[in-house]
Amino acid sequence: MPQKQRTAPDIQAAKGQRKLAVLTAYDYPTGLLADAAGADVVLVGDSLGMVCLGLPDTLGVTMADMIHHTKAVARAVKSALVVADMPFMSYQTSIETAVANAGRFIQEAGARAVKLEGGADFAPHVRAMLAAGIPVMGHIGLTPQQIARLGGFKAQGKTARAARKLVQEAKALAEAGCFSLVLEAMPAEVAARITAEIEIPTIGIGAGPHCDGQVLVFHDILGLCPGLKPGFVKQYADLWTPARDGLAAYCAEVRAGAFPAEAQTRRMDPQELAEFLAASEYGDA
Ligand code: KIV
Repeated sequence: MPQKQRTAPDIQAAKGQRKLAVLTAYDYPTGLLADAAGADVVLVGDSLGMVCLGLPDTLGVTMADMIHHTKAVARAVKSALVVADMPFMSYQTSIETAVANAGRFIQEAGARAVKLEGGADFAPHVRAMLAAGIPVMGHIGLTPQQIARLGGFKAQGKTARAARKLVQEAKALAEAGCFSLVLEAMPAEVAARITAEIEIPTIGIGAGPHCDGQVLVFHDILGLCPGLKPGFVKQYADLWTPARDGLAAYCAEVRAGAFPAEAQTRRMDPQELAEFLAASEYGDA
């Protein structure tokens, strides 16, 4: 029997019961693949900017980009919870803007939850979204939308003080009502402490093995972005090499006149062909 589509409360209820597998996806085929692989959550991450749009970071990703790509993923995903990432400046300027933009992901794009980066400062935004009926996934630690302030893609929570601050941020977001929380790029000990202290599932990325779940970027898992490989990534397949070789074989066959061959060629019915060739003019078609 087909499984019913997972909801934010299902994901929250998994805490302490089973580990959660989260994948990113950005369009219809990647959504289909992530869902077929059995992901609990498919996140349309703003990593879109880096792995699909060729941007150096996530700061240039817009609401229009995210809505467009979330729509495609939502059409594909039938079992996992679809979460849309709120891009830079789509929620930071005011609570009203945050709720309105989060609502677009649900109403226009077909997501069933949103994710936002940031700590206690955004607890009021989370509360307002929840009041509007929009489940929110939090995201603390390395928050790529803050790289200008952080000075780059740097691990967080490395000093005792910074680690304590992360625990406080996590508690504030859990208390505000987030249904889960991404912990990015922090020591495993800090992620373990947060996981033990809050009642919602933590989803780690570069945060060690003690989180309630893990998330990785689709293209990193499958080796689709050569050259971009953070240390915490495990590449489970190398699709770049066979993909490039397949495309190169096509280019070579076109140039050699070997494609299309007879198998890919449509021919006319012989009688129609004879008539066609016998015609001396084409005006009476
Ligand atoms: O944008 C993204 O893909 C993310 C995940 C890596 C958590 O935020």
